[in-house]
Amino acid sequence: MPLLFQHLTSTKQLSRADTEEILRVAADMEKIRTKGKSDLLKGKVLASLFYEPSTRTRLSFETAMLRLGGDVLTAEGIQFSSLYKGETIEDTMEMVGQYADIIAMRHPEQGSADKAAAASKVPFINAGDGPGQHPTQALLDLYTINSELGKVDGLNIAMVGDLRYGRTVHSLSYLLGLYKNICFTLISPKELTMPEKVTSFLDEKKIPYELHDDISAGLDCDIMYMTRVQQERFADKSEYERLKLKYVLTASQLKGKKIKIMHPLPRVGEISTDVDSLPNAVYFHQAGNGVPVRMALLAMLLKKA
Ligand code: CP
Repeated sequence: MPLLFQHLTSTKQLSRADTEEILRVAADMEKIRTKGKSDLLKGKVLASLFYEPSTRTRLSFETAMLRLGGDVLTAEGIQFSSLYKGETIEDTMEMVGQYADIIAMRHPEQGSADKAAAASKVPFINAGDGPGQHPTQALLDLYTINSELGKVDGLNIAMVGDLRYGRTVHSLSYLLGLYKNICFTLISPKELTMPEKVTSFLDEKKIPYELHDDISAGLDCDIMYMTRVQQERFADKSEYERLKLKYVLTASQLKGKKIKIMHPLPRVGEISTDVDSLPNAVYFHQAGNGVPVRMALLAMLLKKA
C-alpha cells in the first residue's frame, strides 16, 4: 500500500495503516541492511540539511540512503548556509529541490518543517523542528516497542523528564494514540509538563494518562521512555541547571523489574551507565532501528518500495 502523502512533517498525519506499512517495509529493509546494500535508490540523491546538532538522525538518514544505493548531499549548521545571510526556508527548498530528489531537514524553529514542506517540490521529511515534532524518531520508537514486546496495543507507557520541550515524546504520543488500550504515565517536574496540545489530543481520543513528578510511579509500566532535559530550549540557564538531573535512573531501581527502558538519546546523565548491561536497556538498539525505518521512509516517499 503506497503512502498517500508526499511529505512527512508530523505523526499526526499518519493513519494506523500507514504506520503499520512503514514498519512492515522497515522489517524488509532490515534484511537488506544485514546483507549490506541494495540498488533500490540508485540514481537518487538525499539532501541532508541539519541546521541543529545531530548524531543519530543525520547519520542514520545518510547511511540509509547509501545502503539503498543512493547518494547524499549534506549541509550542516545555519552559519554555513545562506539561511545565515537571510535566505528564507521557502527559497532554500526551491534551490535544494533542484539538486536533490528528497530532503531531510532539522531546524531549530517549531513550524519550520511545515513551511519547508509547503515550499518543497520534492518529498520532504522533518528530522526535528525545535520543540515541535520528530516523526521519524517516533516511527523508530514504535518499531522498537513492537520488536521488543511483540505488540503495541494494550501497553502502559511511562514518559519521563522534559515532556515540555522534548519533541520525541510529542510525536510518539500522537502515534501511540492510533493504538488500542494505551495508558500513559507522564512524569516530569511541573515546569516541564506535557504541552496542552498533546494532553488535549489524549483527552479527545479518551486515552487515559496520569501526571506524576516521581519516577517510581512509572517503574511497573511496560516501557519507560526517558528523555534529556533540553538545555538548548532554556532562556534561563540556571533553570536548566536546577532541573537537569531531577531524574536519574539507576540499576538498583530496576531490580526485579521487567520494564524496557527507552531513550531517544543523547543521554546526559539521566540514565546511569550501570543500566546499560541490564536486559531492560533497549536504547542503543532503539537508535540502530533508525536505519531500517529511515530506509523504508526514503524508499516509500520516492515510490520505490
Ligand atoms: N534521537 C535524536 O534525534 O538524536 P540526534 O539528535 O543525535 O539526531
